[in-house]
Amino acid sequence: MSEQIETSDRGDVNDLDAILAITNTDVDEAVHAVRDNADAIFTWDYEKGKRPALNKLYEKAKGAQWNGETDLDWSIDVDQEALVEQVGVANGPEDLMAFGIDIYGTVLEGWGHAEWKEHQIQTQNWSLSQFLHGEQGALVCTAKIVETVPWIDAKYYAATQVMDEARHVEVFAKYLDTKLSGHYPINTHLGLLLDDIITDSRWDMTYLGMQIMVEGLALAAFGMAHQTTPDPLLKQLLRYVMSDEARHVAFGVLSLKEFYDDLSEAELFERQEFAFEAAMRMRNRFLQQEVWERLGVDVKDAIKIFAKPDEVKNQDPFQQLLFSKIVPNCKKLGLLDANDGWLRKRFDTLGVMQFEFADNTGEEYLAFDAVTADREAAGA
Ligand SMILES: [Fe+2]
Ligand SMILES: [Fe+2]
Repeated sequence: MSEQIETSDRGDVNDLDAILAITNTDVDEAVHAVRDNADAIFTWDYEKGKRPALNKLYEKAKGAQWNGETDLDWSIDVDQEALVEQVGVANGPEDLMAFGIDIYGTVLEGWGHAEWKEHQIQTQNWSLSQFLHGEQGALVCTAKIVETVPWIDAKYYAATQVMDEARHVEVFAKYLDTKLSGHYPINTHLGLLLDDIITDSRWDMTYLGMQIMVEGLALAAFGMAHQTTPDPLLKQLLRYVMSDEARHVAFGVLSLKEFYDDLSEAELFERQEFAFEAAMRMRNRFLQQEVWERLGVDVKDAIKIFAKPDEVKNQDPFQQLLFSKIVPNCKKLGLLDANDGWLRKRFDTLGVMQFEFADNTGEEYLAFDAVTADREAAGA
């Protein structure tokens, strides 16, 4: 085991050249095929409720369906430029100094209000585009879980999640098409992560990659966007999507807890490695390299100013917050501490271990249920 850990303990995870060498090779592709390497599993054991927590989640999901066309107020006019101004736009290097970011002497020193405004608009287009692509990843992964998970209660629940994810793809696509000013192709690191998850033949890896890692991060990222956007339509959309996502992460935690309790340390190590590689891909996706490309700025020069991935310890509180759901959920699954705390040590290098004692989503999902709360408030 120790030999296995050593070989995977690579020192290159913060190498910016290596990270940026990975680029999207075909941004114009219309479809993308990935072999999913898994058997479709029938079960003849139809006894419902053998796993009461999953059954409860399934009943909850049936009652919490919403309609992306009619439950959101699409008549709200979104003036992207005005909203960006409302949030606040930098006018030059002195404004960034207030946040401790020194751009004097860099490629961005000459940027004024117009350039920073365009940067914020492109960042929003990019972020919503990645949310959209991630949602399609979830749609495909959950359809795979329906096929591959051996438990009837989990197949039932996963079927509701397929519907949820279709709705999420639908509403993000509509918001991008009708309210924003441009699309981006899938970020190369996010694309590779989705490929890795789908390619793996083991049914629990789909859960670990999608429900725990991607959706755990999405729940935190949507929460931040929900707090900061002044757009009432996007706020409402994110609130409803988060209601579903909290349930999806809970589905992952509840299913994997049972399965991982019976795994050996060697088997758990494979899951720890998978989780850490997923975390690295997600961290790298937030470098937003495609935004700098579109703005005509040297990507490496720009990223060095903001992201500093070559620093050993991540100091960015926003990036850290993205892990606020992932860390307690990995702890609940026993992944932090297996194999002498292998994953705990690696998450510590990312500066995210302060979330270890945050609520795990297996228990807190009800707190996110905005759909039921709105219906009760409306007396429905
Ligand atoms: Fe989703
Ligand atoms: Fe989801």
